[in-house]
Amino acid sequence: MRSPMAIGQLAALGSARGRFETWTPARGSEIIADHIALEGPALPILHAMQEAFGYVPQDAVPMIAEALNLSRAEVHGTVTFYHDFRHEPAGKHVVKVCVAEACQAAGANETSAKVAKALNVGFGETRPDGQVTLEPIYCLGLCACSPSAMVDGRLIGRLDDDAIEEIAAEVRQ
Ligand code: FES
Repeated sequence: MRSPMAIGQLAALGSARGRFETWTPARGSEIIADHIALEGPALPILHAMQEAFGYVPQDAVPMIAEALNLSRAEVHGTVTFYHDFRHEPAGKHVVKVCVAEACQAAGANETSAKVAKALNVGFGETRPDGQVTLEPIYCLGLCACSPSAMVDGRLIGRLDDDAIEEIAAEVRQ
């Protein structure tokens, strides 16, 4: 059994590395193997890659192509077609602010600007310290509580100044 100190050390190590795993071809192969039996496995594999590493590593493309008997261009085309897929590593935290219609009507433009200012990063960018990536998103299904956002996969409705402050505090950790 681990001592409390060992558990604390492990937690510290985990947070230093961030939320995402470091890309390795071995882990990439494992992800491909886990999803290859699915019908239409390309998208599930790409999503699983992004879930694990925070982006779709360039080196994963030829591996996926070979496993699925596709050309590299076909896999690359899929990655670039869907705006959800990142080509660069994400920050430790990923904040997405909804900029679709219902949220716009609830002031998403102003809210987005406040979030960008509070996090000190532009949309589509990762802060130089690697703490946070800020992205727009088009409807989170939370229109009734707009304006809405998502922080590390967690939905946040009624994004007001207090909520923005909380997000800023969260990404400092
Ligand atoms: S438009 Fe923003 S959650 Fe639907």
